[in-house]
Amino acid sequence: MARSQWGSRLGFILAAAGSAIGLGAIWKFPYVAATNGGGAFLFIYLGICLTLGLVLMLSEMALGRATGAGAVGAFRKLAGGFWPIIGYMGVLVCFLILSFYSVVGGWTIAYIVKSLQGSIMTSDPKALGAIFGGFISDPVQPLLYHGGFALLTLAVVVGGVQKGIETLSKFLMPALFVLMLVLIVRGLTLPGALEGVSYFVTPDFSKVSAGMLVDALGLAFFSLSLGLGIMITYGSYVGRESKLLGSALWVILLTVATCFLAGLMVLPAVFAFGFDPSAGPGLTFITMPAVFAHLPLGQLFAVMFFCLLLLAALTSSVSLLEVVTSFAIDEMRMSRRGAAILMAAGTFLLGIPASLSLGIWGDFQLGGMNFFDLLDFVTSKLLMPAGELLLALFVGWKAWPVVRDELSTGRSRKAMQCMRGFCMALAPALIGWIMVVNI
Ligand code: PHE
Repeated sequence: MARSQWGSRLGFILAAAGSAIGLGAIWKFPYVAATNGGGAFLFIYLGICLTLGLVLMLSEMALGRATGAGAVGAFRKLAGGFWPIIGYMGVLVCFLILSFYSVVGGWTIAYIVKSLQGSIMTSDPKALGAIFGGFISDPVQPLLYHGGFALLTLAVVVGGVQKGIETLSKFLMPALFVLMLVLIVRGLTLPGALEGVSYFVTPDFSKVSAGMLVDALGLAFFSLSLGLGIMITYGSYVGRESKLLGSALWVILLTVATCFLAGLMVLPAVFAFGFDPSAGPGLTFITMPAVFAHLPLGQLFAVMFFCLLLLAALTSSVSLLEVVTSFAIDEMRMSRRGAAILMAAGTFLLGIPASLSLGIWGDFQLGGMNFFDLLDFVTSKLLMPAGELLLALFVGWKAWPVVRDELSTGRSRKAMQCMRGFCMALAPALIGWIMVVNI
């Protein structure tokens, strides 16, 4: 049977962007940028997305289309030997990410409930900090919401309603953009907000450190859903006639635009209300309610914002669960339903200590980090960059003819040679160097 294909090029771009745009862009980007001093981080992040990000996304899509296979299968078809390890690593990382992603996804559901109750409608920074802190350190509530998010993800994957979600995305993504613009305008017109803008966009390169580089690298791969074979799988459904370069560029531009808007939505408000910019993972959840409190119909905006955030998170978590589920179907010969349930249950269980480590298990530290931060560290700063490093080597040294043929229709030889050189040496050297200095 021929491998099924995306209904249209737009469908492909939206699905890939749906996987990419999620909590990474809207929740993670603002606080990681804020803790890294703002402007310089933004520029380095953009630089990485448009160079390494673009080349690696193109490579993943090309590998998928050339082999018509998913993450593990693509490497097995082209090389065998040691290389399929990259695919296995990707599956493992998807599993690890999904566990804590679902915890944060649960927070968005909780904040929908809190918005409906009106319990977060205040602009008092102390009160909002206390509400968030009290909520995530509660031993029971976040787990219930984490379970709720895991069940939603499972329902989409088992119910086979991805198509429906894709159709929905066509409306949701523009809705999200419009809502963010409204919130940005409100935030920017608050007294003191402009200081936040200049913090966010004025690069102070004296703040660049090894830690910042590895944060930017990890966030770039995380927010673009790279290095785990997701774009390989998506590429395997793309028809021959479709141009990959344009699609990859679209996905990257939409994602970095979302990151930029999210930063502009959160950081000026942080300054206007006197929040601590380095507040960490709670930043979006404590800052945005203060903005809603200053809007007419603020409660309605709050509900809409957290609903859209939940849906953006779901289109990403679905892509994560899809990867581990397909792996279990192909390699462990399980039924689709059984595989999805098993994997969702597994990630739910791993998410429990992650969630509790933000409260009652906070004293239990490994390498100076709680379990939640440890999962984030191991995935974003170790395994994803390592996966990308290997992928670049694979493309440059092993699979180049295949990737070149996939991409080169009408493209100049020079550009293709540059890309090869980049994959063979520059990209691995850059990623390796950043990882090493960080350690
Ligand atoms: N890119 C998603 C986000 O930013 C998260 C994700 C990472 C999804 C890796 C798939 C793979 O929310």
